[in-house]
Amino acid sequence: MILENKTAIVTGAASGLGRGIALKLAEEGANIVIADIDEEGGNTTLEAIRALGREAIVVIGDVSDPEYHVEIINRTKEAYGRLDIAVNNAGISHNFAPTAEIPLATWDRVIRINLSGVFYGVRVQIPAMLETGGGVIVNMSSIAGAVGFPGLSPYTAAKHGVVGLTKNIAVDYGTQGIRANAVGPGFIKTELIDYVPAEQRATLEDVHAMRRLGEVEEVAELVLFLASPRSTFITGAYYPVDGGMLAR
Ligand SMILES: NC(=O)c1ccc[n+]([C@@H]2O[C@H](COP(=O)([O-])OP(=O)(O)OC[C@H]3O[C@@H](n4cnc5c(N)ncnc54)[C@H](O)[C@@H]3O)[C@@H](O)[C@H]2O)c1
Repeated sequence: MILENKTAIVTGAASGLGRGIALKLAEEGANIVIADIDEEGGNTTLEAIRALGREAIVVIGDVSDPEYHVEIINRTKEAYGRLDIAVNNAGISHNFAPTAEIPLATWDRVIRINLSGVFYGVRVQIPAMLETGGGVIVNMSSIAGAVGFPGLSPYTAAKHGVVGLTKNIAVDYGTQGIRANAVGPGFIKTELIDYVPAEQRATLEDVHAMRRLGEVEEVAELVLFLASPRSTFITGAYYPVDGGMLAR
């Protein structure tokens, strides 16, 4: 197992991509810290990890609260003594509207959770990783981290921001054993795409060169690769996993 004796925080691990990633890293031997606002979903992920014969804990809270991330780190060290991998995946979508019609509250909420929530995480994850010689960060962006999508200004701005933040972490800590990369999924079969309006849902598959939606497993495989020692010279990069959407 490629992540034996490693400890990984996965935010948003109570559902969708986060749950799939948590299970994938656990299968490869990592202890998992499930961080999510949804307690019931978090416990379901915990049970699934225990069923694999692996270790995990659940820490409930809101990623847009900086103090929550301090608690996650404290609980991680308490349980496992170290932090090797952080997957900052928790995120939300929002009702679609042209840029000038986006309510201020929507903009603030999406930026707070999808962008500031990642910064609040890495600012405490990095020092924890440095204590044991380094670590790996994988931040969840989106194809909206590379291109715009009609009606999605706040989400697109936040996901581009995640890519920029990721590059800067790589630049700041490249000589200190910390790697950071961003992942950009196309449309993946999770609850998040329930936000796509009905009239656009029919064409959702067609935006991908492969003319289908992605599976959680297909994103989790990329995150595993980036989190593992198979990618030791890869940092500061943005990896689409989008069925060829950006190629169209
Ligand atoms: N599904 C897609 O098509 C897709 C595509 C590109 C990027 N993404 C990104 O992938 C990530 C995961 O999305 P998903 O598709 O699995 O969605 P999801 O809704 O299934 O899962 C998101 C998880 O994040 C948690 N969460 C939301 N707000 C939170 C908060 N404030 N604090 C703590 N936890 C919070 C939710 O409880 C949930 O468990 C998101 O960042 C999303 O933007 C998804």
